[in-house]
Amino acid sequence: MSIHVVVLAAGQGKRMMSDLPKVAHMAAGRTLIGWVLKAVRPLHPKSTVVVVGHGAERVDPHLPEDVVAAVQEEQLGTGHATRVGLEALREVAADDTILVLYGDMPLLTSELLTRLADRPRDVAARMVTAEFDDPTGYGRVVRNDVGMVIEVIEERDCDDASRAIREINAGSYAFKAKDLIDALGGVSNENAQGEYYLTDVIGILVGRGERLEPVTATPEEVMGINSQDQLAEARKLLQVRTNRALMESGVWMLDPDRTYIDDTVQVAPGVKIYPGVHLEGTTTVGPGARVGPDVFALDSQIGPGSTVWYAVLRGAEVGEGCEVGPYASLRPGTVLEKGAKVGTFVETKNTTLGEEAKAPHLSYLGDATIGARSNIGAGSITCNYDGYQKHQTTIGEEVFIGSDTMLVAPLTIGDRAVTGAGSVITNDVEEGALAVERNEQRDIPGYSQRRANRHAARETED
Ligand code: UD1
Ligand code: CA
Repeated sequence: MSIHVVVLAAGQGKRMMSDLPKVAHMAAGRTLIGWVLKAVRPLHPKSTVVVVGHGAERVDPHLPEDVVAAVQEEQLGTGHATRVGLEALREVAADDTILVLYGDMPLLTSELLTRLADRPRDVAARMVTAEFDDPTGYGRVVRNDVGMVIEVIEERDCDDASRAIREINAGSYAFKAKDLIDALGGVSNENAQGEYYLTDVIGILVGRGERLEPVTATPEEVMGINSQDQLAEARKLLQVRTNRALMESGVWMLDPDRTYIDDTVQVAPGVKIYPGVHLEGTTTVGPGARVGPDVFALDSQIGPGSTVWYAVLRGAEVGEGCEVGPYASLRPGTVLEKGAKVGTFVETKNTTLGEEAKAPHLSYLGDATIGARSNIGAGSITCNYDGYQKHQTTIGEEVFIGSDTMLVAPLTIGDRAVTGAGSVITNDVEEGALAVERNEQRDIPGYSQRRANRHAARETED
């Protein structure tokens, strides 16, 4: 008995008030459909199909390679969508289990889906239900006097009695393949919305005397996203889960409620995270690092034992034992080798700082290579752009760049060279040399006293 999965995701999600198809919205590092597919993965389905429709081209890029997209041209209802999905499944045996899920339920857990898919051979369908304080908008689960589920009624088709039911259809099902295919053939669109309801399959199967089992879930697990407000709520709940798992693995957080880490990010045990940290994309943090307060890092690496605080990192690679910030901006192509330091009000781009190289204060370093143990004095910048093209600056090892040096690229500075503070360096500097570009200093003795005297004389004239 293999498991197959059909995820329905063809709807636009009008209530999101967005051009983006609903299931392509992001929450805590994944799209809504991405979360559903992640929860499905541990069940090792034989084939998985996502039914797309509205904005299919914006959903497809988020689907893993082993997931097939089936297009439902017109959204004629969940029953119709399921039929479209079934056609795209591979090698379905009559006895196989088909999981039908909705793509807008990012809080589904693998634990719940495993329980759902554990269908005894003689059970035609299992369906997830939950008790909601406010069941408005959901299909109601109708049971008979002995507590057996007999049908699902959509809210718009409810009478007063069924509307009062608080047990709702969550929208996750496990069907015996043969029974689902047969029953779908009997679904009509004679209802308030003129749609083919997947939920009618339940009543049809019960009518045929088939066995059906409800599986109970918490309201949180089956929360569906229909609005921006619910998206924000789901993001919060997903973040709580991610942070909890990180803390269980040994990550220290001062305030998990103010720590925003994507599910795609890797944080090693023993890392210390302070409030206001956002770690996104493919970011990784090595053991013993200290991150925050207030760090935004996208697709960046923070090496073991490094400290990064009050900083923005995008596509940056920070090695072992480095120091970044406070108030640093590391743009794409920044590489800090072991023990390097980028300090206060420093911006870097396409720049490598070698081992223990330092740019402690107020610098812009773009398109540059800085050798090991070199020091960039406060206020120094690479003038890498001439208004037309970018040019490279190459600085050797153990170089001392004096404060406020303008390094006009293209430029090469040899090992152990020194530049005088305030110099505008336009020519290459050879190894071990001092380069100074500066007018002679002129001292005018007694100037201050003469200036004071002139001022006093003017006062008496007035
Ligand atoms: C559905 C259920 C309802 C349940 C609720 C749980 C039906 C008829 N009703 O109602 O019992 O309580 O979910 O959230 O199934 N979709 C398609 N193609 C279509 C129509 C829908 O792919 O033609 C997809 C949507 O993109 C969505 C999912 O199916 O991901 C559910 O559709 P939606 O319109 O949100 O159904 P509800 O009215 O919420
Ligand atoms: Ca819905």
